Amino acid sequence: MAKKENKTMNELVALCKRRGYIFQSSEIYGGVASTYDYGPLGVELKRNLKELWWREMVQLRSDIEGIDSAIIMHPKVWIASGHVDEFVDPLVECKECHRRFKADDLATVEQCPVCGSKDSFTEPKLFHLLFQTYMGPVQSEENKAYLRPETAQGIYVNFENVRTPARQKLPFGIAQIGKAFRNEITPGNFTFRTREFEQMEMQFFVHPGEADEWFDYWKEERRKWYSSLGFSMENLTFHVHEKLAHYARAAIDIEYDFPFGRSELEGIHNRGNFDLSRHQEFSGKSFEYFDQARDEKYIPYIIETSGGVDRCLLALLVDALVEEPEEGDPNKTRTVLKLHPRLAPTKAGIFPLVNRDGMPEMAKKIESELREKFMVFYDDGGSIGRRYRRQDEAGTPFCITIDGQSLEDGTVTIRERDTMVQVRVAIDAIAGMIDKYTDEWRRDGGLSI
Ligand code: GAP
Repeated sequence: MAKKENKTMNELVALCKRRGYIFQSSEIYGGVASTYDYGPLGVELKRNLKELWWREMVQLRSDIEGIDSAIIMHPKVWIASGHVDEFVDPLVECKECHRRFKADDLATVEQCPVCGSKDSFTEPKLFHLLFQTYMGPVQSEENKAYLRPETAQGIYVNFENVRTPARQKLPFGIAQIGKAFRNEITPGNFTFRTREFEQMEMQFFVHPGEADEWFDYWKEERRKWYSSLGFSMENLTFHVHEKLAHYARAAIDIEYDFPFGRSELEGIHNRGNFDLSRHQEFSGKSFEYFDQARDEKYIPYIIETSGGVDRCLLALLVDALVEEPEEGDPNKTRTVLKLHPRLAPTKAGIFPLVNRDGMPEMAKKIESELREKFMVFYDDGGSIGRRYRRQDEAGTPFCITIDGQSLEDGTVTIRERDTMVQVRVAIDAIAGMIDKYTDEWRRDGGLSI
């Protein structure tokens, strides 16, 4: 396999804009700092990623239920969860330029990173990460509400609402995908740290005596999942936390080697019974569970897997972006996004070789048939070589060309993105062939067409 060259984040950002994956939000007004919109390819990649997570966590398991809870919850939720008191960062302000920085980031620096002024910082002040708003027309203290900073609390408060109708017994889990908001002080690195983002969270409720076992179980399940997405596993690390968040008894981060450094994609936490005990205390409703098999009452422990959709998507793009020598001309390179075909926004490009002799009509018919099954892209612009390059860069795993022979014998060529191998197949075998190649795809280009 061709050697992967390190691409800088700038190149990835440019590709994302060029191909319609991700671009600056409100761009025509100069953009909003660290806020991004997902374009036609980005939204498909995001949908595919979330769908694979949901399939793994909910569809394939009888012991996990799904939920979609509200973004705005009762303000007491955030007092009980500890966010109102604990979700703060100490900040210092430069007395010269009035920029604010995390005190931790400046622990070893005495100079303002922006204006260069020396020894002129204020004493650290606490800065709240919760986004605040008001419910109703009156902006008063009692109408204060928060945008959720994590989806997890919507799961905890609904423990009984989900468990009872679903007739679940412990151990069982509740999964949710949704937006979360944090007024981050230092957002950055493209979509890595933003103020509005999506989480994929699963909370698994267990007997306290089994929490360690389930923590190890979920670590392994999550490792397998990242591997199934086609990640180069040498770029992923499991980092054990020494310093724990206020709710956690044990924590592990799954980290990815981004061009800007090794950074967190997902956290796996043993939260003990902190959350349910706190909601019991603040709501006055019992969260005790009667375990019939054990003849025992207890507040369940929670093992949490908490991943970021946007961060995982960014890591997938970084991992997939490859520049390699062109076949037959080592002086030229091609840019390829080697996404797993299951994740790729467009499954197939469909090209009539020329725009005449019945080829476009045949290609259009194939396009509308394949659209029933997956996203495809019809392209009749420019040489076949250029059309291949465009789809390589967009991450499209298969390209179908309709040529003169197609009109005679009803066959087309399918070209695979990573190996660039081409085979001829009958038109009614295209969809089956694409499914087969998708199942057989390997990160190291081991697909044998
Ligand atoms: N419920 C636990 C929790 O929210 P967290 O480590 O604060 O834990 C979980 O967040 C995941 O959410 C992170 O691993 C990351 O993928 C994502 N995430 C958190 N803050 C983010 C931000 N500002 N921008 C993008 N993703 C973020």
